[in-house]
Amino acid sequence: MGTILAIETSCDETSVAIVKNRQVLSNIVASQIQLHRTYGGVVPELASRQHLETINLCITKALVEADKNWQEIDAIAATCAPGLVGALLVGVTAAKTLAMLYQKPFLGVHHLEGHIYASYLSEPDLQPPFLCLLVSGGHTSIIYVKDCGLYEMLGSTRDDAAGEAFDKVARLLNLGYPGGPIIDKLAQQGNPQAFKLPEGKISLPQGGYHPYDSSFSGLKTAVLRLVQKLELEGDLPVADLAASFQDTVAKVLTKRTIKCALDYGLTKIAIGGGVAANSGLRKQLLTEAQKHNLQVYFPPLKLCTDNAAMIGCAASDHFAHGHTSSLNLGVQSRLEI
Ligand code: KG4
Ligand code: ZN
Repeated sequence: MGTILAIETSCDETSVAIVKNRQVLSNIVASQIQLHRTYGGVVPELASRQHLETINLCITKALVEADKNWQEIDAIAATCAPGLVGALLVGVTAAKTLAMLYQKPFLGVHHLEGHIYASYLSEPDLQPPFLCLLVSGGHTSIIYVKDCGLYEMLGSTRDDAAGEAFDKVARLLNLGYPGGPIIDKLAQQGNPQAFKLPEGKISLPQGGYHPYDSSFSGLKTAVLRLVQKLELEGDLPVADLAASFQDTVAKVLTKRTIKCALDYGLTKIAIGGGVAANSGLRKQLLTEAQKHNLQVYFPPLKLCTDNAAMIGCAASDHFAHGHTSSLNLGVQSRLEI
């Protein structure tokens, strides 16, 4: 394993980190949340421009904070997929340019693999196999982690990602952006049993339901209809709505994940992505996991949300396995893990 300089620019965080094995030497994250807040979501063109403005400063800061110079960097990595193409291009182009300039190997990293590796950063002794639940603004995935580079996607969302559902429901309740943390806070004051909402099961052609896939768009529409009805009646119990919505999402994710772990005989579950911060999800997962003797790992929030340290950790493991990428590697908005 070597010392990796890693870059993450797949969405709205410009991040550069220096990682050695499973140790974070620096992890600079410049968030663009303020920039996109006015629009109620990430504006791709603005994201790319902001990455360009910020990236050089982040690279310098990451080196200074880690007390490293270019001679001490063994390889340069960047997230190459999936994500916003213009945004990804900024990070990948910076990484390739540095790799050429300083004659270092380059590694392109899958963004979801990065989220999986965030668990190794907070739990250096964690070993595969384990199940990873990734819940962010762009993904809701249940992944069987078998080894470095060996993953099986067992469950995913058919429409909105969990974080996206939080953001959309917050928007229709006029709560602001990003919606997840606001709903989470508001839900503490509400009654999670106030409204019964649909769990978004996926029907199978042969009958029954898909055990691990989920859908959140029906749930979002159900909240919309409820809001329209309650507004007409002149009373909008926002905290009860937030609590009921959060409780339903947490229930769906917990059920699917625990079932998946039990079906595949896995005893460890690692959580990643911004929605991993959700207090309702944490509570339900921990309670259910305990009932079944399963171990759950929640990395600290700064490693759950997008950051370059997780990308560096994945790159470091691949580099140790002798893997590097061609400088011709492109970026992709969608790519299976
Ligand atoms: O992983 P992340 O920072 O970015 C990507 O989407 O890749 O996740 C951001 C998402 C947003 O949708 C945000 O609303 C959600 O995570 N989020 C939460 C919480 N904190 C952030 N959702 C529910 N509860 C939270 N406490
Ligand atoms: Zn992410």
